[in-house]
Amino acid sequence: MCGIVGYVGDKESAPILVSGLKKLEYRGYDSAGVAVMNRNVLNVVRATGKLKNLETRVQTDVPQGTIGIGHTRWATHGRPSDENAHPHTYGGVAVVHNGIIENHLALKEELRSKGHHFSSETDSEVFAHLISDELKSGLDLPAAVRAAIAQVKGTYALAVVTTSDPNRIVCTKDSSPMVLGLGQGQNFVASDVPALLEHTRDFVYMEEGDLAVITASNVDIYGRTGQKVNRPTRRIDWTPMMAEKGGHKHFMHKEIMEQPRAVADTLRGRMLLSEGDVHFEGWNLSPEKVRALTKITILACGTSWHSGIAGKAMIESLARLPVEVELASEFRYRDPIVEPSHLAIAISQSGETADTLAAFKEAKARGATALALCNVIGSAMTREADITILTNAGPEIGVASTKAFTTQLVGLYLLAVKLGRMRGTLTVKAAQEHLTALTEIPKMIEDVLKCEASVKRVAREFMNAQDFLFLGRGPMHPVALEGALKLKEISYIHAEGYAGGEMKHGPIALIDEKMPVVVIAPKQPHVAYEKIIGNIEEVRARGGKVIAIIDEDDAHVASLADHVIRIPAASALLAPVVATIPLQLLAYHVADLRGNDVDQPRNLAKSVTVE
Ligand code: M6R
Repeated sequence: MCGIVGYVGDKESAPILVSGLKKLEYRGYDSAGVAVMNRNVLNVVRATGKLKNLETRVQTDVPQGTIGIGHTRWATHGRPSDENAHPHTYGGVAVVHNGIIENHLALKEELRSKGHHFSSETDSEVFAHLISDELKSGLDLPAAVRAAIAQVKGTYALAVVTTSDPNRIVCTKDSSPMVLGLGQGQNFVASDVPALLEHTRDFVYMEEGDLAVITASNVDIYGRTGQKVNRPTRRIDWTPMMAEKGGHKHFMHKEIMEQPRAVADTLRGRMLLSEGDVHFEGWNLSPEKVRALTKITILACGTSWHSGIAGKAMIESLARLPVEVELASEFRYRDPIVEPSHLAIAISQSGETADTLAAFKEAKARGATALALCNVIGSAMTREADITILTNAGPEIGVASTKAFTTQLVGLYLLAVKLGRMRGTLTVKAAQEHLTALTEIPKMIEDVLKCEASVKRVAREFMNAQDFLFLGRGPMHPVALEGALKLKEISYIHAEGYAGGEMKHGPIALIDEKMPVVVIAPKQPHVAYEKIIGNIEEVRARGGKVIAIIDEDDAHVASLADHVIRIPAASALLAPVVATIPLQLLAYHVADLRGNDVDQPRNLAKSVTVE
């Protein structure tokens, strides 16, 4: 997601800004820019693509000035382009913004009626216009920024400079990260600590609603109501590598822990609760087209294929449309039946997986409408798609997919609600209930993450097992598949995921007292709770060790299992989001205890761009 760096001091700011932005590359971005101020002259340099493009431009014609702001943009509103890259300027004001302005359309309309012209498709540009107007009305820069944010609904980390007040940066944040770096005769602001570690180890974490006024010699912070506040200065002793992991031992751990935020970001701005509907930016399927759809084909690989299986249940249940879930690598090499009345959905974290891309192109060439559910805007799949739904998980660096999976699940749920409304299979009231259930998921993930200590105890007990079996029924079947994949790819322990009903048809032969069996058994009607209890009894009868994932209040399964991990009860179709978390933690801790390279397991690549 976007990254911000700001500098004010006695050195040339452009190289400091570019080098800080490089340290934020892990956040993911598709364009970048800097605004450097020299007295009352503002020099803006922006470039689409990798930072080296910006660097080349900056080196060719170095913008002079000892105060400036820089940004890496991860596109949300408007494609990646030089015009949409930040900083955005208007009337001598330059802004960089991380977050989403939900009411930007209304604000733009109002500003246009006052004679403003916009030069980008972004929501963020609105800030430059609002602040410029407030300055013209006589406010100083901090007050103008306050007045602007009061008009905005949404989330922001914002840094602003203006030619009319050329010695200070004003920055403010709400729900997007921002830290201040303190130096001698120079001060900094950034989205994250790594951007500034080469200049300072003294940081102040801004709190929600804080506004900071930064000069070369001073930093003042004001709280939401305008009163001056003292925020503690923290000395950070992280190495740059650790800092990029935010203090976590591995990216995978960080990414597991980020899931409440990642899922909230997938939902943000999309749920129209009062209308009982879902808004996807760029959605261009008419109601007639949606009603005429006869089939959905989901194309994906690995973890994304597992989320597709869960998505099938969601879409069939809420939109009453048949869904097939295809392994992309198989689909592309047969002679699939595809018709213009079909919707092909490619699910992919990276948007670059070769098999999924080829299958997606094949489906499109045969006449299907192409929808990408993807985490990386500008990736090959989003370029191929007629419609893209971004998962907004932020960059996923660990090879084992975690937050990509859970954000795909909620993305699919939103899509199921949208299709259900458009096809008339969901009433407004029913859709409202589904959306309300979704709003509860980030908090449930936060709660379930608290099971880490008990999962670690289980990991320690079974870290030397040769094999694992994962069982789930109904919506928990893909969770079992995902739990097994996670474990095998990073721990190198052989693991199988099975639908509970299939156990008697083969895998039961493997069960003995050395075999741990993870049974995902929340009390959901679709999960065939009674039947999964039958599976547990069968495992016990053969001496297998049962690790059960159960509801908080389930005493019965607790009395049968060797170990239990309790999860909050979500609705049947959303329970996979919550139930997956302990399995991610189990795989993580087993792999870590075995001393494996968790983030870069042997033989695996983050993005599989070859067959
Ligand atoms: O980027 P994609 O979602 O298309 O990747 C698909 C698979 O390669 C990926 O999910 C893989 O299975 C992960 N290593 C699973 O953790």
